[in-house]
Amino acid sequence: MSLLITNIGELVTNAPRDAVSVASPGSYEAVADAALVLDEGLIAWAGPSSQAPGADAVIDAAGRAVLPGFVDSHAHLVFAGERSAEFAARMAGQRYAAGGIASTVAATRAASDGVLRANLARLAGELLQQGTTTFECKSGYGLTVADEARSVELAAELTPEVTFLGAHIVPAEFGGDVAGYVDLVCGEMLAACAPVARWVDVFCEHGAFGADEARAILSAGEAAGLQARVHANQLGPGPGVQVAVEAAAASADHCTFLSKADVDALAASGGTVATLLPGVEFSTRSPYPDARRLLDAGVTVAIASDCNPGSCFTSSMPLCVALAVREMGMTTAEAVWAATAGGAHALRRTDVGHLGIGARADLIMLDAPSHVYLAYRPGVPLIAGVWRAGERVA
Ligand code: NIG
Ligand code: FE
Repeated sequence: MSLLITNIGELVTNAPRDAVSVASPGSYEAVADAALVLDEGLIAWAGPSSQAPGADAVIDAAGRAVLPGFVDSHAHLVFAGERSAEFAARMAGQRYAAGGIASTVAATRAASDGVLRANLARLAGELLQQGTTTFECKSGYGLTVADEARSVELAAELTPEVTFLGAHIVPAEFGGDVAGYVDLVCGEMLAACAPVARWVDVFCEHGAFGADEARAILSAGEAAGLQARVHANQLGPGPGVQVAVEAAAASADHCTFLSKADVDALAASGGTVATLLPGVEFSTRSPYPDARRLLDAGVTVAIASDCNPGSCFTSSMPLCVALAVREMGMTTAEAVWAATAGGAHALRRTDVGHLGIGARADLIMLDAPSHVYLAYRPGVPLIAGVWRAGERVA
């Protein structure tokens, strides 16, 4: 059954006008007074309201804006417990340190599959209600073969974008034996997780894994059929971005502390997206990454939530868009593009992040006339409707 959404005040398509079919997200593009036809779960037509074809059913958007669903390319949703006390301590002056991850690892190991599944389902529901129609989900709070395997399996119940992050930190029982743990990650743990995951990730940071270890983990992952993504340059300068570009990773994530060489490497990479996670800087009271510098250098920028219990416990892409605009020098159009098409690039997806003809019919309707309101009215629930593969889901 086809559906015509008409009288759209602003339709953000991220696709060229008048294209007969669209193979992947394009640059930011929006049409005023627009209409959209969904059919068989895909976008069948987009253009001016006055030229809209007929359809089996019609929705009058009454001047509201319609955008592609958000593509959240970075989230850690398989965990138990919470760390609100750590957040409160940070707001009282303590610094964020990667070590807090260990407490979530302990809670996750102790939790039943049922508890982890229920927590994950609740967070996935939050994402959907806030307009996220595609999300990536990492393991990384299990850090034993069995706990990492069940983490990727639970994630795969809800999304195809599953990332094996056995290399999140070296768990306490290894007593600082980094090499021993890297062997486990590259061996038995990878073998247990690779059949279920699409991606391999490593936290390349002082206090987590160094450049050589990260390279070893990414190349073992690649040999097992996984594509690379990297937690890079979050807490300070370091080799993460260079390692990501060398490995032809789909994305270098965080990118908070970048040298000129890092920016140049990303710009010349031809395929490594810089995924910025402004909720982390908000929640750790840290300086924001300089999106303007990356954009001006020609780097492809994505925005994602990094939803996790430690460094950033928001599931809200609208909040991340507002922060990117207010704090990172992005225009409203750049931020919306980064949260939709940018996320699709970071996941190497061509079917989402845009509303070109043939794209999956993943879209959100705002209770507002334009995308600008996502940043103009921060914290206000503006998502009036969500469709995924043509079905209304919120
Ligand atoms: O992306 N940087 C490493 N991992 C997460 C934080 C995880 C945690 O603190 O529990 C991040 O910020
Ligand atoms: Fe992360």
